[in-house]
Amino acid sequence: MNTFTYHNPTRLIFGKGTLEQLGKLTQPYGKKVLLVYGGGSIKKNGVYDGVVKQLESVGTQIFELAGVEPNPRLTTVHKGVDICKKEGIDFMVAAGGGSVIDCVKAIAVGAKYDGDVWDIITRKAEPKEALPFGTVLTLAATGSEMNSGSVITNWETQEKYGWGSPYTFPVFSILDPEHTFTVPKDQTVYGIVDIMSHIFEQYFHHTPNAPVQDGFCESLLRTVIEAAPKLVENLNSYERRETILYSGTMALNGTLSMGTLGDWATHNIEHAVSAVYDIPHGGGLAILFPNWMEHVLDEGVGRFKQMAVHVFGVDPADKSDRDTALEGIRALRSFWNSIGAPSRLADYGIGGDKLDVMAEKAMVYGPFGNFKKLQYDDVLAIYKQSL
Ligand code: NZQ
Ligand code: ZN
Repeated sequence: MNTFTYHNPTRLIFGKGTLEQLGKLTQPYGKKVLLVYGGGSIKKNGVYDGVVKQLESVGTQIFELAGVEPNPRLTTVHKGVDICKKEGIDFMVAAGGGSVIDCVKAIAVGAKYDGDVWDIITRKAEPKEALPFGTVLTLAATGSEMNSGSVITNWETQEKYGWGSPYTFPVFSILDPEHTFTVPKDQTVYGIVDIMSHIFEQYFHHTPNAPVQDGFCESLLRTVIEAAPKLVENLNSYERRETILYSGTMALNGTLSMGTLGDWATHNIEHAVSAVYDIPHGGGLAILFPNWMEHVLDEGVGRFKQMAVHVFGVDPADKSDRDTALEGIRALRSFWNSIGAPSRLADYGIGGDKLDVMAEKAMVYGPFGNFKKLQYDDVLAIYKQSL
């Protein structure tokens, strides 16, 4: 293992009825609260009413920023920063999925920065502080509720970047599985793919002696694979929503990568696709990840064989390690197909005309990926394979 420090300051509050704690949790931070949400799902499923009731119960003055887009835009972040600065906001509540939370993270640092927050997102400036914020999560996917990462899109320049800082952990996150009941089937599937992809990004490493981390990854993957088809069949299953919601948080709160160095190339490759075509992140990952796996297979056949055997139950008897590994990747493809995930860029009407544009965007910080360092030609090859 590598040396590491683990510190995750987010208070995780999980389970039925936990929204009732929101008022008391926000109270110590001040009276002026900016409530941030998306396109209106929280107004339809009662989460908005519950949040407002809680905030009012402790005498909060509520300001609102509605309309955060899936793949949140810099323009919306700017609106939030303006409100915070103009009104002297003390605290923010993000009520929604990963996009709302990521937007709030950017607003939080932007509110305490004199220049344009894009400087921070593009790593030209380091944040020194941030407004505190909490979250009420309504969609199991990104893990943003218990990490410091955020992904923001500048639609004018078609750039989408992940960034983060020690100041952008939520101070608390409230996760009630019932808040995810209304997530439609397609978004539920995208979330499941995203969760599994986060685990894969951390599972594909070359760090020696990490059996605990590997076992955690494999166990989480098997659990998601077991629960997902049942959830897709019955979107109102409390137990399955609970399992997937908890899995999503555990997949990306730092636990799985203590002492290891994950890959993260596929996320970078996907962000370049959704920067240009605005497709759902999980849909993009379902298309790209198996193709990344085949492309990098020879960097570590043993690790792919381990995935095949330990996660997908492939029988390695009388097979070469490579054949076992390939069978594992095929099993992943067919699992994602079986729950309704897309498998080709063509499923989103994406043809070959902008592959070079996307590859250039993916390369903006130079070669990337820790399992195999990808160059421009590698990225292009993976896109071509995904058409
Ligand atoms: O906008 P509303 O009306 O709320 O509708 C949303 C949105 O249309 C809807 N939704 C959310 N909760 C719902 C619901 N609909 C019905 N009932 C509910 N309870 O779902 C749609 C998608 O929401 P979004 O927040 O965009 O999805 P997700 O959580 O998958 O977030 C995607 C964004 O997160 C980034 C992605 O790149 C993408 O921009 N990521 C963030 C990460 C992080 N911060 O750590 C890591 C991830 O790898 C990812 O890159
Ligand atoms: Zn992701």
